[in-house]
Amino acid sequence: MVGKDPDTMAHVLAVRAISFDAAEPVRGLQVADDAPTPEPPAGWKRVRIRAAALNRHDIFSLQGVGLRAEELPRVLGCDGAGVDDEGNDVVVHAVLGDAEIGRGDAVNDPRRSLLSERYDGTFAEYLVVPAANVVAKPAELTFEEAACLPTAWLTAFRMLFKNSATRPGDTVLVQGAGGGVSTAAITLARAAGLRVWATSRTPEKRARAIELGAHAAFEPGARLPERVDAVLESVGQSTWAHSLRAVRPGGVIVVCGATSGDAPSAELARVFYQQLRVVGSTMGSRQELLQLLSFCALTGVRPAIDRVLPLTEAADGFAAMWRGELFGKVVFAV
Ligand SMILES: NC(=O)c1ccc[n+]([C@@H]2O[C@H](COP(=O)([O-])OP(=O)(O)OC[C@H]3O[C@@H](n4cnc5c(N)ncnc54)[C@H](OP(=O)(O)O)[C@@H]3O)[C@@H](O)[C@H]2O)c1
Repeated sequence: MVGKDPDTMAHVLAVRAISFDAAEPVRGLQVADDAPTPEPPAGWKRVRIRAAALNRHDIFSLQGVGLRAEELPRVLGCDGAGVDDEGNDVVVHAVLGDAEIGRGDAVNDPRRSLLSERYDGTFAEYLVVPAANVVAKPAELTFEEAACLPTAWLTAFRMLFKNSATRPGDTVLVQGAGGGVSTAAITLARAAGLRVWATSRTPEKRARAIELGAHAAFEPGARLPERVDAVLESVGQSTWAHSLRAVRPGGVIVVCGATSGDAPSAELARVFYQQLRVVGSTMGSRQELLQLLSFCALTGVRPAIDRVLPLTEAADGFAAMWRGELFGKVVFAV
């Protein structure tokens, strides 16, 4: 999306994928202040981004997952909060799709995309999105906090409150505690009155998980004191077998990602014999984003933010995620 007359418009900062590299994804990142200020087409809005947050999705994009070479360069970023042209403080809903086709939920539109897949994303000074993709930012949340919510937090919100069907007092296991989705899941589940258990690869992150609200934290694959009602799974191959063994008969594994790889054994005999439910979960609707914002405003719950960096130093944030150093979200201040 470019301005009508780029020569006469100010050029602004943008962080783009310019090539793919599966082994060293950060090499394909470009930070440049040569982007024309975008003009919103009819029915779209322009948002001056104040804060944006990093997701594993942005790393996958640099590895060529979900993007084609002919779509490069592409401004990355699903998560953002800022100020629209009318001066309203807004949060961006990252799912671009037709809610009617998706039977009331844009996520179910077969042609839906996430910001940065088909249209430029939030890692820039300006973003243009369909008007339906902005919602009001509650005054209780800072731009940095609000920017963390539209992807990882919204995904955790739907996993927990829609797809796990758990109730206060139930026990939930969150795999891979340090991630954006997982820190959100721990925080939301604790605030909603569940018993929260988590796994993480390092003792430091297990300690952080308990500080965040987990009642107990375990090494990956550890035998648990008892089986849980639900597992929230985003790690994939390296935790899947544990998830299948951790859940009680008749319980549910809600899966939104496979960071460590796909295609572990499905262990179908265990699935049917234990009457397990395996439920896929992706993002959330505009309505769920409004509910999540309200939940945070009402409860005082806030995202765990590992670090805030200026957008010009985005590559440092990407590198830290790639090295697995993070606990919570990386936010780019714009
Ligand atoms: N379906 C959707 O709509 C949706 C939305 C958001 C995210 N996702 C997916 O969910 C996953 C998590 O996303 P995120 O943004 O939360 O990512 P993230 O912040 O990078 O977190 C990934 C976490 O996975 C854990 N992990 C365990 N084994 C790992 C391994 N071998 N390699 C890397 N990480 C490992 C790590 O936790 P410890 O270090 O604590 O062990 C890490 O912090 C991604 O696959 C993402 O694509 C899907």
